Amino acid sequence: MTSVIKTLELDLGDRSYPIHIGQGLLQDASLLTPHIHGGSTVVVSNETVAPLYINKLHDLIGDYRNIDVILPDGEEYKTLDTVNQIFTQMLEQHCDRKTTVLALGGGVIGDITGYGAASYQRGVNFIQVPTTLLSMVDSSVGGKTGVNHPLGKNMIGAFYQPQCVIIDTDTLNTLDDRQLSAGMAEVIKYGLIRDADFLDWLQENMDGLLKRDPELLTEAIYRSCKHKAEVVADDEKEAGQRALLNLGHTFGHAIETGMGYGKWLHGEAVAAGMVMAAKLSQGMGWLEATDVQRIETLLQAANLPIAPPKDMTVKQFMDLMSVDKKVLDGVLRLVLMKSMGEAIVTDDFDHDALLKVLIG
Ligand code: NAD
Ligand code: GLY
Repeated sequence: MTSVIKTLELDLGDRSYPIHIGQGLLQDASLLTPHIHGGSTVVVSNETVAPLYINKLHDLIGDYRNIDVILPDGEEYKTLDTVNQIFTQMLEQHCDRKTTVLALGGGVIGDITGYGAASYQRGVNFIQVPTTLLSMVDSSVGGKTGVNHPLGKNMIGAFYQPQCVIIDTDTLNTLDDRQLSAGMAEVIKYGLIRDADFLDWLQENMDGLLKRDPELLTEAIYRSCKHKAEVVADDEKEAGQRALLNLGHTFGHAIETGMGYGKWLHGEAVAAGMVMAAKLSQGMGWLEATDVQRIETLLQAANLPIAPPKDMTVKQFMDLMSVDKKVLDGVLRLVLMKSMGEAIVTDDFDHDALLKVLIG
């Protein structure tokens, strides 16, 4: 049974693809099967998600010869070794270049599987079936795939777009509250960088969203994916405005690394990082104190932190931020807010104001 289904298209010419969002989509084969090409499918999932949803996906896939690759759960398995395990199983099972590979899980599974699909026999058909809020609104859309290297997170990867993205909001019913809130940070991010009206809508509907009202979730995910699809359509390889999607991320990555991976979830660190970016924007005279309070109120309503951990020092922040991917020729660039719903990437910010934000 399905209720409202919303569909949008990421426009990349002959690599364009649909993003379908709605309740019960894992019971609707008509959205998936047109995108399965060739004779076999490979479903990549993990030990947490597979027991919950893999049978539903098998039912949708139907009569194709299917191979499951079930990986251990965790960011620590987002490695080249894990991608190699996928290749080994595919080669042992004689998967050819016409195989369709499906990622069933959160961003970790989506990133690993996408990179595997990009590389297996120089690229096979790939479908994203994201099951966390973060992966629905961010990682499954836009074609960034990859794995971590011991010397850096997401350092090995490829831009590789899927054939379609199927988002069943029902899968969020089994996601824990903390992960749901972490994903909400990325939803709020779209409002902050591109859509001030969306911020009002989120403030009004946050209770219902956290209670997992399927129609509200569909609307929030649709609006988020629409923003992401528009940004990626204009700047697929991040030559310019795609970097705006990293609001709060430079501070956030420093918090994640400084605290040790896993202690703060990515979305939690981004939430605190977005407040830091907003405070620096206030220091630049672009935001009012009331704007910053509004952002804090919304993040708090989503059960997200609004300040970095007290024990992180300015030096720690500066050291960790200096290895950010947005650093060019040794110059730190930050995403800041020009106004509510408008962001820029700039290296032209007041360093005393930054220091004030880091001191807290
Ligand atoms: P995750 O994939 O680790 O999922 C979080 C946890 O939820 C895991 O334990 C997972 O097994 C579990 N889970 C997933 N779906 C579930 C469900 N429906 N019910 C119950 N449990 C479920 O984390 P994430 O936040 O989805 O993704 C984080 C990853 O995404 C990071 O590796 C990050 O680098 C990457 N990322 C990539 C992009 C991109 O553009 N490619 C963007 C943002 C983040
Ligand atoms: N998560 C940021 C991007 O996809 O560009």
